[in-house]
Amino acid sequence: HHHDNDDLRSLIRTVPDYPKPGIMFRDVSTLLLDGAGFRTMIDRMAAMVDSDTKFIAGIEARGFIVAAGLSYALGLGKVMLRKPGKLPGAKIGVDYELEYGSDRLEMHIGHVGAGDKILLVDDLIATGGTALAGLDLIHQAGGIVEQSLFIVDLPDLGGADKLRHSGIKADSLIC
Ligand code: PRP
Ligand code: HPA
Repeated sequence: HHHDNDDLRSLIRTVPDYPKPGIMFRDVSTLLLDGAGFRTMIDRMAAMVDSDTKFIAGIEARGFIVAAGLSYALGLGKVMLRKPGKLPGAKIGVDYELEYGSDRLEMHIGHVGAGDKILLVDDLIATGGTALAGLDLIHQAGGIVEQSLFIVDLPDLGGADKLRHSGIKADSLIC
């Protein structure tokens, strides 16, 4: 069903050579600008969420927008996986590599219970470095991840396959 989300695909623009020469940057800001498009996007992703999901983990910053929409649509709580230095409580952190640099994600401990089923979401998966860092954090905090959802997958960069090789479902609206 490659054409099912053509309406949403047409709302995402590609910016060449951002943030570095050679990177074709899929920019969701044009999808977010469209109120009806955002609703359609959230409704379609919400319909894909496993029914036994306990919390939704969103990755800062664009992943928070997806997590917030799904959280509202499904009435589920959220966990914030944050860039460094933002969380006030007891926390854990993981450093990771990006397609265009490196970064760090942090998560509060003591919020997710042992064995809680967590859905991992972000706007986009490219190399998977960010999602795997998020997975590592959730595992360290005691959570279980069986499913991940993204608006956009860049399959040539292999991130979704890395998640699948770790036994985690990785689905997206747009490839
Ligand atoms: C982008 C995107 C994903 C990640 C995907 O975030 O939102 O989180 O990169 O790349 P990867 O699969 O190769 O790890 P970015 O770090 O640019 O942060 P932002 O959401 O704060 O803009
Ligand atoms: N768009 C947005 N975020 C990204 C991309 C992209 O093409 N590649 C890695 N992170």
